[in-house]
Amino acid sequence: MTRTPVNVTVTGAAGQIGYALLFRIASGHLLGADVPVNLRLLEIPQGLKAAEGVAMELDDCAFPLLRDITITDQANVAFDGANVALLVGARPRTAGMERGDLLSANGGIFGPQGKAINANAADDIKVLVVGNPANTNALIAQRNAPDVPAERFTAMTRLDHNRAVAQLAKKAGVTVEDVKKVTIWGNHSATQYPDLFHAEVSGKAAFDAVGADQEWVENFFIPKVAKRGAEIIEVRGASSAASAANAAIDHVYTWVNGTPAGDWTSMGIVSDGSYGVPEGLISSFPVTTKDGKFEIVQGLDISEFDRKRIDASVGELAEERDAVQELGLI
Ligand code: NAD
Ligand code: LMR
Repeated sequence: MTRTPVNVTVTGAAGQIGYALLFRIASGHLLGADVPVNLRLLEIPQGLKAAEGVAMELDDCAFPLLRDITITDQANVAFDGANVALLVGARPRTAGMERGDLLSANGGIFGPQGKAINANAADDIKVLVVGNPANTNALIAQRNAPDVPAERFTAMTRLDHNRAVAQLAKKAGVTVEDVKKVTIWGNHSATQYPDLFHAEVSGKAAFDAVGADQEWVENFFIPKVAKRGAEIIEVRGASSAASAANAAIDHVYTWVNGTPAGDWTSMGIVSDGSYGVPEGLISSFPVTTKDGKFEIVQGLDISEFDRKRIDASVGELAEERDAVQELGLI
């Protein structure tokens, strides 16, 4: 049976994450090995030529699932009929830039893109924001798309989730498949809370699997995961790209195809007030997914240790929301 191609829009397509992402989308890793795709690449005018080069390479791969590529600097064209949108392009922080300047510059990108999604995307649009500050950029886009259900806007904390799984597996001496139910709470920033207290290793409490080593959890695991992005920048000389692209693929694949039984994932989603996270903030939660929808995992016991860290990261998200509100971006 010939399936209708899914329209996938990628912004910042000529950047380093774009380069690691597009070939995997075109080879079927984003949606499934039997799902044809049309790629819509959005770039700023200076990025268009490089995006054309990437499109030439995509052609040269002769991917059976890749039906069509559009390259444009017009958001209305890029999001026309979009079923999945990966918002990767963002304004990076440069020397001398204050946080307010960064939020304002990104508001100038994610506000108009939210409007273009609202006006042009398909009814089933699913949006993943990768560009930093990802949670607040997602909030700006979501608030500028009032006709799209709020839950279709998500921010990426899957890279943090995958980092936490890898660190936990290493410490416990198991493979990553043995690690389940890890959670990233809060913001994709150094304040995030990577939580292993609700996680399992080979079906048992993860904390026991790491020798109930509270010192390791507090002084190694949590900072290692939360500051991994900065560590990659320092060691590699550039921010994470292939692992970020991989996490974006994982995020969308899991959203569309479901979480495996006995496990959950982490996604930045619009809070419904669960776990005391103020309604409307885009914060990372433990979620299960099924049939293209997700649900927050409910009923987890939150210790004082968890509470303090969730509140700190959520407090930062509330400050970012207040700042973009003051700037008139939402
Ligand atoms: P990059 O600088 O290599 O590429 C960004 C691309 O975006 C450039 O080609 C640029 O021309 C384009 N761009 C800028 N403004 C645009 C706009 N308005 N519309 C369309 N395209 C636009 O950066 P990168 O390494 O690919 O990273 C992209 C973003 O992802 C950064 O903000 C980075 O901090 C973020 N990131 C997030 C995570 C995460 O886990 N959430 C992980 C890694 C990186
Ligand atoms: C990461 O977590 O690797 C990135 O968000 C780091 C960054 O600042 O781009």
